[in-house]
Amino acid sequence: MHPDMERIFKGNLEWVEKKREDDPEFFERSAKGQTPKYLFIGCSDSRVPASQISGTAPGEMFVHRNIANMVVHTDMNLLSVLQYAVEVLKVKHIMVVGHYGCGGVAAAMSDKQFGLIDNWLTNIKDVIRLHENEFNFITDEEQRFRRLVELNVIEQVINLSKTSIIQNALKDEDPPQLHGLVYDIREGILHNLNVKEHMLKRFEHIYGMQ
Ligand code: CO
Repeated sequence: MHPDMERIFKGNLEWVEKKREDDPEFFERSAKGQTPKYLFIGCSDSRVPASQISGTAPGEMFVHRNIANMVVHTDMNLLSVLQYAVEVLKVKHIMVVGHYGCGGVAAAMSDKQFGLIDNWLTNIKDVIRLHENEFNFITDEEQRFRRLVELNVIEQVINLSKTSIIQNALKDEDPPQLHGLVYDIREGILHNLNVKEHMLKRFEHIYGMQ
């Protein structure tokens, strides 16, 4: 076996051993099922592991990751995860988690071609178009990059609120709350972007469904 893969199996056995030591019933309990409170929609970037950065244990967080933490209305994968999380698992909180230094966002800011992925990144270019006035005022390139990471998260939370799944869930007594977060890779801190309800309701006259 390749040493890189040997490392994975070795690491796994070490983890099992440690877990059994700390919590002898852990695996028995896990096998019975999951009742996660959270749905995490994050970037595929290897530096943003959902459970580790949030200090949550296995079983606590349902996770969907893709390049640049996008919520795209034709993405069957995302929609299936969302429906299952909301309607079956009944998660209480859904968070879109972006991160500064996101390669997907950086690629969308450039005018270079990267292949098939360009069609995915076009969704981020749409965010630039929606906020072009604000962008034109930010002269510092790094600041512009950071702001686009934040605006992209906010727009993806708005995209979540437009889905029929969330619109139906909002009719429930105790609907899941939507959140937008940014992870700062340099310091390890998760920042809340405080996406407010009025921001989600602003275009209800267009996207609202009864
Ligand atoms: Co990223």
